[in-house]
Amino acid sequence: MNYIGKNFSIEKVSAKTLAKKYPTPIYCYSYKKLKKNILNLKKNFKSFNPLLCFSVKSNANLNLLKEIKKLGCGADVVSIGELMIALKAGIKPSKIVFSGVGKTSNEIKYAIEKNILLINAESKSEIIEIEKIAKSKKKVVDIGIRLNPDIDAKTLNQISTGKKENKFGVVEKIFLEITHFIKNSKHLKLKCLSVHIGSQILNHKPYEKMLKIIDKIIKKTHHNFEYVDLGGGMGIPYENNIKKLSYKKYSHAINKFLKNYKTKIILEPGRSIIGNASVLISKIIYIKKAKNKNFIILDAGMNDLMRPSLYGSKHHIIPAIKKGKVIKQILEFVGPICESTDKFLTLKKFQKLKEKDLVVICDVGAYGMSLSSNYNLRPKPIEILVKGSRINIIKKRQNIKDLI
Ligand code: LLP
Repeated sequence: MNYIGKNFSIEKVSAKTLAKKYPTPIYCYSYKKLKKNILNLKKNFKSFNPLLCFSVKSNANLNLLKEIKKLGCGADVVSIGELMIALKAGIKPSKIVFSGVGKTSNEIKYAIEKNILLINAESKSEIIEIEKIAKSKKKVVDIGIRLNPDIDAKTLNQISTGKKENKFGVVEKIFLEITHFIKNSKHLKLKCLSVHIGSQILNHKPYEKMLKIIDKIIKKTHHNFEYVDLGGGMGIPYENNIKKLSYKKYSHAINKFLKNYKTKIILEPGRSIIGNASVLISKIIYIKKAKNKNFIILDAGMNDLMRPSLYGSKHHIIPAIKKGKVIKQILEFVGPICESTDKFLTLKKFQKLKEKDLVVICDVGAYGMSLSSNYNLRPKPIEILVKGSRINIIKKRQNIKDLI
């Protein structure tokens, strides 16, 4: 995804061409980038050949999931909906793991019926519920227990999940108690220790710390875990000056851990697979002058891309067509939603803009469409997958009539 001449293009298709054919805003994905990200993960972690379970919550588009499946991934799901769509995409149950603190009986029943690889349980009560259902179905269910290692993942507070004050997983004492409980159960089989300390992690050190804690706890259990599921969280650089997470260093830490164990590693990447594989193309509706700055009012709003309003996250904004030189000016890119937090980014320089110009909001593939909503009764945008010069509509824009 880059400029071909003056035109920002997704593979061989320019943003301008797409905006002529389809209503903006448009989520547009590059197949090449998606594939590259998966191959890159495989290459960097090939010494221990992990099972890559794509985290469906980061992007649940059926057609993308089909492509992700073809590239060899399984799925990490957190609801019956995500489990159903992963299966519909053709992902084998033996490559699906199910996490989440509040799985309902229905969700557990469905997961057991489908014989998925692991239910990663997050509390004693959940374990008791799974056992009850397994018993009624006369089945033995493969279980992972999610550990809360009490680690600061050094990421945004809102997306940290491995500190003791977070609701996720269980602390060491309960972990050991549950281990004991499962060992004595006829209907549960303890197969996995799972963990996920947070998202958008850019430094390998919290992972190193996490692996040391896992090592210590496994020793205390005296149990041979067939799998260790390290979750996802691998971050991507949303801004130019940010250093990437070193896959090499993370992989090195995992290899060090594996010296003591014969266990299969599961990773649950979401953002690192789909994050930088998509842009959001948006049109300027109005430009409004204010004191010391101009508001650039886009046809994309916080309902289409929630991350900036929810976490203060920065997604770079660039022109769809390069015209003229970059000049100093203060521009605040906002959406049309009736909320003051409906703003994407403030920039101090940009090329001269006019109404109806197109802009491109970058790196929106993960938690972009999946966090979108119908707030202000706005239809969700169209999703397009570009392969070379081929344009595939992978989800139609919602119809306002259907919403009404
Ligand atoms: N596994 C588990 C158990 C998770 O909870 C998550 C993300 C992942 C894997 C995938 O993490 P990733 O590789 O994508 O970092 N909405 C937030 C991110 C929330 C992440 C929730 N859990 C955002 O837009 O930044």
